[in-house]
Parts: sequence; structure tokens; C-alpha cells
Amino acid sequence: MKKILVTGALGQIGSELVMKLRESYGNDNVVASDINDKATGEVVESGPYEIIDVTDESRLAEVVEKYNIDTIYHLAALLSATGEKNPALAWNINMGGLFNVLEVARKNNCAVCTPSSIAAFGPSTPKDNTPQDTLMRPTTIYGVTKVAGELLCDYYHEKYNLDTRGVRFPGLISHKSLPGGGTTDYAVHIFYEAIKNKKYASFIDKGTYMDMMYMPDAITALVKIMEADPSKLVHRNAFNIASMSFDPEMLAAEIKKHIPEFELEYDVDADIQKIADSWPNSLDDKEAREEWGWDPQYDLAAMTKDMLENLSKKLK
Ligand code: SER
Repeated sequence: MKKILVTGALGQIGSELVMKLRESYGNDNVVASDINDKATGEVVESGPYEIIDVTDESRLAEVVEKYNIDTIYHLAALLSATGEKNPALAWNINMGGLFNVLEVARKNNCAVCTPSSIAAFGPSTPKDNTPQDTLMRPTTIYGVTKVAGELLCDYYHEKYNLDTRGVRFPGLISHKSLPGGGTTDYAVHIFYEAIKNKKYASFIDKGTYMDMMYMPDAITALVKIMEADPSKLVHRNAFNIASMSFDPEMLAAEIKKHIPEFELEYDVDADIQKIADSWPNSLDDKEAREEWGWDPQYDLAAMTKDMLENLSKKLK
């Protein structure tokens, strides 16, 4: 049985990934960790929880050794909009944290899965159907740490034969946990406001297409890529994965099918819009489909229906 450590376990992805992994591998075999020392809730209460600041390598090593960890899902990171407000902190957490995880993994022979992002691409990248292997010159600090992180994970695989794997996540949409400080967050906030106030002012402009994904597909991707046959993996860090691409107008039109009185307005944030404009419109994910059977279940219509149903219950 695997012994798994998840860093950033209380974040948007972590809080759902931990529960899924505990279901599959047993509660005691999945150690959740985060920097938060006052946390409560199902992640903290349903299995082991350890406080880890990923910039502290010795603390990471202590937890890995204590539980005989063999697989690390490293999720602790700052997102794009927050990163632009404090580039030094983004570098320290995203690069410093990943470097520590890789070093501890090397010394303890752990597999490592860490997400990259559509932010690893930049303005010179082909915008539509962005290929797996292409120009990557991001213009945000978050993107710089993501592309450097992909390369660092490849390096540890090549040099030390460490089993590193990852995917490039688009904007992630979930009714369970909120994202924090991302460029794609509008696509989550819009659902809350649609249900509560029947209107939303988007900080991303009309006509701005970005890849998005519903959380159940994102969680499946993280589980599936770590269970994939390594002999079939040509690309390890990191795979393009895609399931839907839309702009605010398309999302609003889909929401209106369920809430006809919903109105979309715009209050564009120039700084965040600049980030969105530097990212691709849509990714080509054929390598992920071929090499490990990536097969998303939710398109825009299915995601919107499920989001509204679940969020309406939650916000009652
Ligand atoms: N959702 C992330 C962000 O907007 C992209 O990886 O920063």
C-alpha cells in the first residue's frame, strides 16, 4: 500500500485530493499537511495531519521519515495574481518548496507529483491548440516558477531516476473549496454570485478564452498519472490536459440556461487581465490521452449544471 504525503492539503485542490486518496488508499496511509496550525474540518479530522512549511526542508524530511512516505503530492504554492503582488515570496515558496520536496524525495526514494499550469506558457506561445512541446516564455513570476519547476522535475528524473510526474492544470472549478489568488478565479466566483445575487461583475474581460476544468476531472488526473505505467510516459513534467475552454460570455450564457435572470457585467482588473492575455486560449492534450489515457468527463454544460446544483444546496 502506498504511503502518501500531500502538501498544501487545505488548498483548493488538496482538500479534495486528500479525501479521494484516503478513500482509495485508506485514511491512515494519506498524510495531509499544510502551514495552517489552527485548521479544522474533514481533511484534518479524517486522518493524519501535520503542520509543514514547505520552505523548511528538515521539517519535510521529519514527516516523510516518520510515516515512511513513498509518494508526495506537492501542491503548496502561490497562484498567479497573488504571485505578482509579491514575486520574491512566490519564488521562495514555489521554487524553494519544490526544491526541498525533490531533495527529500531523492533521499527517501519517493515518487513526486506536482502540478504545473497553463501559466507556464507566455505571449509567444501558439495561442490555440497549444502543443505539448512548444515555446515557453512566461511573463509572470508564477509562470516562471512553473516552467522552472517542470524542468527541475525532469532534471531529478534524468539525473537521479526519481519518479516525477505532473500535469499542466488550467483554471479549476469546484463547489467545495474556493481558489485563492488565481487569474482564473472569476470562473468560480461567478457561480456564487449567480446563485446569491443573480449578477456578477467579471474582472476578466469578454472574449478572453482560457482553459478550465471541473475539479472531479482534475483529481482523476492526479490519481491516474501516478498510477500510469511509467514505460508509456514519454513526457513526465508536465502534460497538457484540457476539457473545456470558454470566455466569460460563454460561461454566462450557460448559467442563464439555469438562471434566466442572471446578468454578467464587467469590472476588468487591468493587472489580472494582462496575465490572462499572456496565456493560451486552449491546449492540445493528445499526448496525455495517448500516454496515460486522459479522458475528462465534464464539458462546460455538464460542469455548469453540476456546479449550480451542488452550490445551491451548499448556499441554502
Ligand atoms: N488557476 C491558476 C491561476 O489562475 C492557473 O494555474 O493562477
